Amino acid sequence: MISTVLDQLQRPLRDLRISVTDRCNFRCGYCMPKEVFGRGYDFLPKDDVLTFEEIARLARVFAGLGTEKIRLTGGEPLLRRQLHRLVSALATVAGVHDLTLTTNGSRLLEEAKSLRDAGLRRLTVSVDALDDEIFRAMNDVDFPVHRVLRGIEAARAVGFAPIKINMVVKRGVNEDQILPMARHFRGPEFILRFIEFMDVGNTNAWRMEDVVPAAEIISRLTAEIPLEPVAANYPGEVARRYRHRDGGGEIGVISSVTQPFCGDCTRARLSADGRLFTCLFASTGVDLRSPLRAGASDTDLAELVSGVWRARTDRYSEIRSSATVAQPKAEMSLLGG
Ligand code: GTP
Ligand code: 5AD
Ligand code: SF4
Ligand code: SF4
Repeated sequence: MISTVLDQLQRPLRDLRISVTDRCNFRCGYCMPKEVFGRGYDFLPKDDVLTFEEIARLARVFAGLGTEKIRLTGGEPLLRRQLHRLVSALATVAGVHDLTLTTNGSRLLEEAKSLRDAGLRRLTVSVDALDDEIFRAMNDVDFPVHRVLRGIEAARAVGFAPIKINMVVKRGVNEDQILPMARHFRGPEFILRFIEFMDVGNTNAWRMEDVVPAAEIISRLTAEIPLEPVAANYPGEVARRYRHRDGGGEIGVISSVTQPFCGDCTRARLSADGRLFTCLFASTGVDLRSPLRAGASDTDLAELVSGVWRARTDRYSEIRSSATVAQPKAEMSLLGG
């Protein structure tokens, strides 16, 4: 039976973002800067990471509380071996009608087919630039953009459509890629979303001066490409949608900094080690793994999760200030964005 649980601001628990690993093969400066996530960095030990069976069990508990959408994230989720097995398990969870994944695309060429066959229906790929030099500099591991583009082609070939493309825009770094990206990812096969650089975690040296506001992105685009706004697909959608007036498909802007969307935020996050976070900018999460491993029943777990959700008051992006930026926050690679 599904019961809807509401938080303190009357927001239901509709979405669950599950991080399956805190590791990544890229070192994007806005997420896992090399200076911090270098050789000495303590990633989660294997035993601390939830097994696929544990994740699937928690997913069923969340579905029982009204969760309809699950997104797999990381770090880089495709670094987790046999991820398609988890996809198969999640594809059969009653009540979950949207199962998707956000990846850096580096392993898509190899994995796209097994993910599709396992029941993944939607896919989002991060691409910050088409220019190879900028792309390599942004991932900071010299990974060439053509390999990600080939991965995207492989995903299209096995039937993913439309594929969402995420581009984090940083002032002075890749802003000159806005138009080339919009031209390249035009058409019904893609939905390109421009993301404002966010102050997630405490290691990415975020400064407001490095944010290119969504309004500026839209005005730069409309100077060259006629666009018109489109209504949201569902309440609480993260991206504001626009379409090419000439029928060339859709784009979106994700403006967490300049136009926050906490009012409809129905997203919970599960870290790879089984902690429940109720906001992307939270500093701590509630341990679900210990009770799970200590033999808690599904009812016990559901009570724990619904208690946390009922107490939720998070609206970080609406109250962001110079003081909140410096607060301790969990890292993006742990929370999965
Ligand atoms: P769909 O609407 O299902 O396509 O997915 P999505 O846009 O919610 O997910 P995706 O993983 O592609 O995230 C896009 C960007 O939005 C990333 O930079 C996320 O970190 C950011 N984002 C997603 N959810 C939230 C949120 O609740 N709050 C904030 N501030 N940012 C979010
Ligand atoms: N600001 C905005 N988006 C970010 N992402 C990672 N770090 C940040 C940040 N600091 C994006 C990734 C990926 C998505 C899950 O989050 O590029 O597309
Ligand atoms: Fe890896 Fe994605 Fe973070 Fe880049 S943004 S370091 S690809 S997890
Ligand atoms: Fe939700 Fe927190 Fe993002 Fe606001 S800042 S939309 S509450 S995750």
